[in-house]
Amino acid sequence: MKDARAACVMDYHARSKHALDRYAAGPGTLDWDAQPAAFRYWAGCTQTALPRDVVVDDIAWGALGATRAALPFDTRTLGSFLRLSLGLTAWKEYAGSRWSLRAHPSSGNLHPTESWLITSQVADVADGLHHYQNLQHALERRAWNEEASAPGVWLGFTSIHWREAWKYGERAFRYCQLDMGHVLAAVSYAAALHGWQPRLLALDEHKVARTLGVDRDADFANVEAEEAEVIVALHADGDAPTTWQHYAGTPGLLDPKPLYQWPVINEVSAATRGTPPATPAATQTVATHANESDIRATQVILKRRSAQAFDGESVMPQSLFKRMLAGLLAGGSPVWNLWPHTPRVHPVLLVHRVEGVAPGVYVLPRCDASIEPLRAAMRDSFNWQRADESLPLYQLIAARAGKTARTLSCHQDIATHCAVTFMMVAEFAAPIEQDPAAYRHLHWEAGMLGHIVTLEAEAAGWRGTGIGCFFDDADHEVLGFKDTQFQVIYHYAVGMALDDARILTLPAYA
Ligand SMILES: Cc1cc2nc3c(=O)[nH]c(=O)nc-3n(C[C@H](O)[C@H](O)[C@H](O)COP(=O)(O)O)c2cc1C
Repeated sequence: MKDARAACVMDYHARSKHALDRYAAGPGTLDWDAQPAAFRYWAGCTQTALPRDVVVDDIAWGALGATRAALPFDTRTLGSFLRLSLGLTAWKEYAGSRWSLRAHPSSGNLHPTESWLITSQVADVADGLHHYQNLQHALERRAWNEEASAPGVWLGFTSIHWREAWKYGERAFRYCQLDMGHVLAAVSYAAALHGWQPRLLALDEHKVARTLGVDRDADFANVEAEEAEVIVALHADGDAPTTWQHYAGTPGLLDPKPLYQWPVINEVSAATRGTPPATPAATQTVATHANESDIRATQVILKRRSAQAFDGESVMPQSLFKRMLAGLLAGGSPVWNLWPHTPRVHPVLLVHRVEGVAPGVYVLPRCDASIEPLRAAMRDSFNWQRADESLPLYQLIAARAGKTARTLSCHQDIATHCAVTFMMVAEFAAPIEQDPAAYRHLHWEAGMLGHIVTLEAEAAGWRGTGIGCFFDDADHEVLGFKDTQFQVIYHYAVGMALDDARILTLPAYA
């Protein structure tokens, strides 16, 4: 059974690869006017508007990792936290089009992740399960019990695959999972600012689906399904309520006329259901490295954008380069308090323009135990020359790899005009054979790495962009991987952004 699920995952991964001569199956035509709705409404739910103020505006980015007293849970602090993790951060307008951005990036800006809040005994919030309606920054009360349970606050996440599949076809499941990693990272940063300790719960997929009400097939009979992902507690102890006596509301339809179907997404989704790696309750909060940046942390988060183009010439200061890489290691970011697991995703860097770092291909094994397996799987000709005294960074080859980065990243200019292109290399076949659900979790980890890099860049006036489109096996050829022991699952570009002055920016919430 497990073997069949693992085989399904490996098949899906292989068929959803882009290759130099063949893209993964996707829609032949896109009707932009028929794009699935960006926001799901729950008709018939009581809606409660949340306060919009950000209450932690005085914390410097460099002081992010300092331990701070937990703020009490109330509408003000929850409103502030949701704005910084899952809320809208701006509206953009150009040539008659209008689109919103959020605190976390998303493949194609399609935002497949839906967010839920479960509250018990929080001042001014009715107990129960609420859908977070980020368009209005409001809670829609979806389910509740008559009796109060132990006090607490939990977040829940579901994915609407169709939002991504509409545009990206079969590869979309990967993007939903990378997005989930960005979301969990965004939650980690916002929670750290409020002094909260987010914790992934070890609930299996049935419990997560039941807790979030997405197993109620009749409610979703004529609308897009929501796939249960994970529940996160915002405090150290206490179990989330997992059953409800009363439900309200019906979910809105996002796409009345879907043109295509991608059944393989349902198959890989079913094959990868399981229990996420819980944050151990005993984890001590690791104070992350302090740095000198006195830019406000809230500004970094709310101003974060993906670069749509890079200038192709700015040289990245070494201090930023090192800070980004340090952030990816244990203790380097609040994300690693939520996800304190042995690293299974390791960045390979194509360095184009970094002060004091020779252009070339580098690897940052995120734990010592992975060095030898990586070395054995990569090309024999790589030098493995230690490139930094304090970071486990190794030069593999000295070369100008800008053109290669562009070709490998589906010919996108951002991969060569940036200062560094990251390729996130996952330990692959073994974890998936052991637990097929690892396919989701490896993508979460890769999304987390991208999020850390992007926020560190933003804090220093630089920018990052996720790159979900890359030629998988061409990457593997360059690195020398001959089988699926390792696979590249995400690219990321960081550089000096060129802003498009024609695009108008408007406030997130009027
Ligand atoms: C998983 C993922 C894959 C992405 N892939 C690409 C890509 O291949 N090319 C690109 O230009 N942008 C890519 N992006 C960036 C998104 O287009 C961007 O996040 C989205 O438009 C929202 O804009 P924002 O990040 O400024 O909020 C990707 C983002 C994510 C999270």
